[in-house]
Amino acid sequence: MSVEKLSKTKHGKERKRFDCTNESLNKYLKETANQDQKDRLAVVYVSYDEQANEIKGYYTLSNDGISASDVPEHFKAKYKNLNVTLIGRLAVNSKYQGKGVGGALLAHAIKTCIMASNVIASSAIIVDPIDKKAVSFYKHYGFIVLDSGRMFLAMKTAIDAFG
Ligand SMILES: CC(C)(COP(=O)(O)OP(=O)(O)OC[C@H]1O[C@@H](n2cnc3c(N)ncnc32)[C@H](O)[C@@H]1OP(=O)(O)O)[C@@H](O)C(=O)NCCC(=O)NCCS
Repeated sequence: MSVEKLSKTKHGKERKRFDCTNESLNKYLKETANQDQKDRLAVVYVSYDEQANEIKGYYTLSNDGISASDVPEHFKAKYKNLNVTLIGRLAVNSKYQGKGVGGALLAHAIKTCIMASNVIASSAIIVDPIDKKAVSFYKHYGFIVLDSGRMFLAMKTAIDAFG
């Protein structure tokens, strides 16, 4: 599956047609993603079907931080604050759901996090699930739920599974 950075010129129209059934995730791609990318708040990655002129799905990555007291004890956090990478949003066009696109996008996101962590260290990947379905999707890939409700995958675990 080919994944590329969101481009206002290339994906401008398709971005507006994107529908994953979750209004806030649709709205983000239509109205906010491009500006967030410009402002360096998030990098937005899209899976784009050139033939159909359609965005199959997207995800975002940003740097984030988490307090050591919020992570599981077995993680043995060495410092008070941990640098982590945030998968801020991930969504699949409803037409393509249930066909492996979400799993492939998440694998791509995790591999990108691993690659980036070789240049600027990051000790874990974090997601903020939007609902129970999202919780169960991320659990399927080994993320664990923290007391805060955020979900956590240690970078070392990600490397073992996807690196
Ligand atoms: C959740 C979502 C990203 C899943 O994407 P998808 O393309 O439908 O999922 P896939 O077909 O790639 O499924 C990949 C694997 O995850 C599993 N899976 C998919 N949704 C799941 C769920 N809700 N709970 C548990 N497992 C799930 C599939 O069974 C499949 O498992 P397998 O590889 O072992 O066979 C997609 O349905 C979506 O965009 N929903 C609306 C937005 C949303 O909820 N985003 C969540 C992130 S904030």
